[in-house]
Amino acid sequence: MQKRIGLMWVVALLFQLTCRADEGMWIPLLLKKYNLEEMQRQGFRLTAEDVYDINRAALKDAVVGLGREGRPFSHFCTGELVSREGLLLTNHHCAYSLIQAHSTLTDNYLKDGFWAYNRPDELANPGITASILVRIEDVTQQINGALTTGTNEKERAAIVEKLSRKLEEEAVRGTDLQANVKPYFNGNQYFMSVFRIYRDVRLVGAPPSAIGKFGGDTDNWTWPRHTGDFAFLRIYAGKENAPAAYSPENVPYRPATHFKIATGGVREGDFTFVFGYPASTREYLPSFAAEQLLEIENPHKTAIRTAKLKLIDQAMNSDELLRLKYAAKAAGVANSWKKWQGETKGLTRFGTVEQKRRLEAEFKTWAVGRVPYDGVTDRYEALYRERKELILADAYALEAGLGGAEIIAFARSLTDRLSEMTENDLLPASVDQQIRSFFKNYDAATDQKILSEMLKLYDRQLPNEWKPEAVKESGQKGGYDAYAAHLFHQSFFTDSTRLLACLERWKGVPLQEKLKKDPAYLLASSIADFRTLRISPPLREIENQLRELDRVWLAGLMEMQPDKRFYADANSTLRVAYGKIGGYSPADGIYYRPFTTLSGILEKEDPEIYDYRVPAKLKELYQRKDFGPYMQDGEVPVCFIAGNHTTGGNSGSPVLNAEGHLIGVNFDRAWEGVMSDVQYEPSICRNISVDIRYVLFIVDKFAEAGHLIREMELVE
Ligand code: ARG
Ligand code: ASP
Repeated sequence: MQKRIGLMWVVALLFQLTCRADEGMWIPLLLKKYNLEEMQRQGFRLTAEDVYDINRAALKDAVVGLGREGRPFSHFCTGELVSREGLLLTNHHCAYSLIQAHSTLTDNYLKDGFWAYNRPDELANPGITASILVRIEDVTQQINGALTTGTNEKERAAIVEKLSRKLEEEAVRGTDLQANVKPYFNGNQYFMSVFRIYRDVRLVGAPPSAIGKFGGDTDNWTWPRHTGDFAFLRIYAGKENAPAAYSPENVPYRPATHFKIATGGVREGDFTFVFGYPASTREYLPSFAAEQLLEIENPHKTAIRTAKLKLIDQAMNSDELLRLKYAAKAAGVANSWKKWQGETKGLTRFGTVEQKRRLEAEFKTWAVGRVPYDGVTDRYEALYRERKELILADAYALEAGLGGAEIIAFARSLTDRLSEMTENDLLPASVDQQIRSFFKNYDAATDQKILSEMLKLYDRQLPNEWKPEAVKESGQKGGYDAYAAHLFHQSFFTDSTRLLACLERWKGVPLQEKLKKDPAYLLASSIADFRTLRISPPLREIENQLRELDRVWLAGLMEMQPDKRFYADANSTLRVAYGKIGGYSPADGIYYRPFTTLSGILEKEDPEIYDYRVPAKLKELYQRKDFGPYMQDGEVPVCFIAGNHTTGGNSGSPVLNAEGHLIGVNFDRAWEGVMSDVQYEPSICRNISVDIRYVLFIVDKFAEAGHLIREMELVE
């Protein structure tokens, strides 16, 4: 009997281990210590040094964080080097706004795709950066050592900030590198990432949206999926392979290493890993925060965006030019809108708040008499109680107000920028640029409707004390529509010709007076000032205290559960996640297989629905069965899912097999498990990747861009 219980216990433990195994996004520097053994047990065939090394080339040298000049460390996506000549593979949706920027109604690359068949045809994308990690250093000692207990949270932040900048500066002095220190584990640890950041990144190839965005926002965040979500960029370097601003003289970057492409296929149960830049997760949130996410933030923000999207969709469906202008904006708005809903569903289904409450109850008992952990959960509860109203008011100020109709943020930022100008100044080129790029993708008629809708929601959903004056007044006279119509008629900011003429005619003080009386600016200021004066100060105060609690809470959890292996929340630094290829059950009685194929694209085809149109050439290839060598079991594979713990920013990440060869490009997560930013559930959390053989098939057969395939290194 005892033996049986023992055995059962071992089985249960093993089950738990294997079940939990896919959770986590790990720091490459610490792979050996925490993960290697488990990875190898699951089938991984490389060493920790093959993944991350600072003395010789390692896989990390082929992983690229995509960012923007000015904030290169907040990577919006990941990419991977796949040739000796800087060829970079990422997602179509990551390159979406770049493709859009190069598109016109006559050369509509977003609609028809783009392929450079010669190097000089590759298109420059000013402002885009490509970061390659040189090394990571643990700087916890240096930072924590300088902090004395009793420093209050504000002082602490200032010290950390100052010290971080100093460490960064020292690390890169006299080099062409850039360093960035970031907090991990809620500020209990600090690591510095040192990068070489390239600034000349060109567009090489992208399929038409009917492939790269097949299924559109209807299929977004769902499985089964058939999206060919990939695009090719190329990094260019100046002299001696060093970073340089765009120049026709630049040459393709020569990476220390690049990924080999695996053509041998993937099977259910195969070990995979994802190497990339996840941006943000909140796995250690207390129950009170999860509750507010479910009850306040997600539902209200979703409702605001539902209203906005309805109007944007109407515009896009009415006119081809508006479709092009609003493409990237709409994708962005729709993406979070849908994700919040999936997150709410998943967290509710798995009783996350309850699970967290149980953990907090356990902690509370454990913490009695232990400084500084005693009382943490009670303080959490009190702070979140105070936060409740503020976070609702802030959600409206941001989503419906400052981030509602575009004219609001535009009027505000332009007026601020012009407030320094004197009579004699010429209009700065950057302001001129801002005006042009704003109007390039702007439709005043649509924005006017959005303004009216946003004000209506803002005014109706909040109690009076949380509404800026202008919002309260907006519906009073002739109603919201009339208010918006009047504002758009009167404002300088709603029409580029009128705006430029105004800037031409008035300069210096008279100009500022004019602009500051503009109704769009007045509305923007009313909202912004309300937020600055009424919402932000108490909210910041609470957040400061929460930051301290978060740190203490996680330190306590780690102490309370000494055998648990903790991972740090995503923070836009390089991480490794690993998991197996496997299906899941989305609901009782249904099981989803982990693979999709080209046949499935034809099954989904519907010429009546924009998202499900299939390009004629793709259909021909399918009918002729002209699949080349890109087949598995007689089909062209399209997408697959695995249990890798990923999040936003992981898009474009290389998905690798046990040998470290590229089997796919990560681009999404499956609906039922979108909650993984707050709680990872091994039974349903899946990352979605486009199969590398679909990428090769489209490049070779559809785009006839065989030169790109010849640049890559294909292995079985
Ligand atoms: N859901 C994916 C991610 O979060 C893809 C988004 C782009 N696609 C879209 N249809 N909006 O970024
Ligand atoms: N689609 C996301 C991205 O753009 C990835 C995810 O959230 O799973 O990074």
